[in-house]
Amino acid sequence: NQTAKITVLPGDYIGPEIMNAGLAVLKAVSEGTFDYQIDEQPFGGAGIDQTGDPLPQRTLASAKASDAVLLAAIGGPKWDNAPKRPEKGLLQIRQELNLFANIRPTAISRAMQKYSPIKQLAPVDFVIVRELTSGIYFGRPREIDAHHAIDTMRYTTNEIRRVAQVAFEMAEKRHHHVTLVDKANVLATSNLWRKVVAEVAADYPTVAYDTSYVDATAMKIISAPEQFDVILTENMFGDILSDESAEITGSLGTIPSMSRGTSGPALYEPIHGSAPDIAGKGIANPLSMINSVAMMLRHSFNRPDLADIIAGSVDAVIETGSVTPDLGGQATTDQVTAAIINHIHERRNAYVENDV
Ligand code: NAD
Ligand code: IPM
Ligand code: MN
Repeated sequence: NQTAKITVLPGDYIGPEIMNAGLAVLKAVSEGTFDYQIDEQPFGGAGIDQTGDPLPQRTLASAKASDAVLLAAIGGPKWDNAPKRPEKGLLQIRQELNLFANIRPTAISRAMQKYSPIKQLAPVDFVIVRELTSGIYFGRPREIDAHHAIDTMRYTTNEIRRVAQVAFEMAEKRHHHVTLVDKANVLATSNLWRKVVAEVAADYPTVAYDTSYVDATAMKIISAPEQFDVILTENMFGDILSDESAEITGSLGTIPSMSRGTSGPALYEPIHGSAPDIAGKGIANPLSMINSVAMMLRHSFNRPDLADIIAGSVDAVIETGSVTPDLGGQATTDQVTAAIINHIHERRNAYVENDV
């Protein structure tokens, strides 16, 4: 087996804290069974500090030459007035790697149920497929002067079709239901989405397809999240709804994501940011990063066995109540991570014993 090449981007504020946790878990679960090599590179504010650019040339080159990219989080007050902000580097790497589909799961496992702020009647397990390289984030013109400003929400049929196909393919392997979320009562782009996605839906006869306005969807995610399987939506709506969805699991600090194109490396990152308000205190929730590592092993390296060991270990630790303050606990980042690694060792030993 070839050595997997992973580009690691710790980023800013809590970024390096949770990346350490993610890499420690990767090491523990991989020992003797998964061969990988890490290339750590500056990115975001750290990229600005080291090279003047949030996405340094060598960082981009490393990412392009990798089999997968692991990112923690970037940005923060230190660089909010930089000529080129860290966030710009993030948008740029997504575009350079053509990562047009951003997959953000919301699942409330049995172990997590007691942390959810909402009363659940039914199990929640849905995923947001967010378009990531177009829409109002990238559309031109984009201008600002003393008296006016313009952003442009623009989509082409091709941009809509390819991400819609990702959503329907996922639904075929899940619960056979896609909901397109839009603002078709107002926006022209939403009307184009409706037209193109209806055409794509016709190619997936086993998948039920419906639509929902974004404002009503924001309500339904709180009142009846169990009705969703795959939510397909444009870039900005997906950004907003995914933070909201994350919070119904108990904390934004638990949710991983995968961003992918049609070929080339995928990128895995927590959906949250660099949490400057809690950086340096050792209390950042490492689960979003650890879950991102599991997602990478499952989807980029075809190691569902290792991903399952991580997921089982995470659940076991959550069950004990050893969680960080964002989930109402008192554990530190390092304590949660060490407990997960202990479980991984137990599970891996059990594995090896079964094998002989
Ligand atoms: P944020 O997601 O960083 O934080 C929002 C809230 O959630 C904060 O109270 C924070 O403490 C909490 N939180 C987030 N992750 C947590 C974790 N792992 N454990 C415990 N608590 C956690 O959003 P923000 O404060 O609005 O943004 C901070 C910076 O991050 C900004 O510069 C923003 O642009 C950037 N950002 C980056 C990314 C990314 O790197 N992909 C994503 C979102 C925001
Ligand atoms: C995210 C973030 C980014 C986005 C920002 C930091 C550019 O909020 O990954 O969700 O809006 O996509
Ligand atoms: Mn966001």
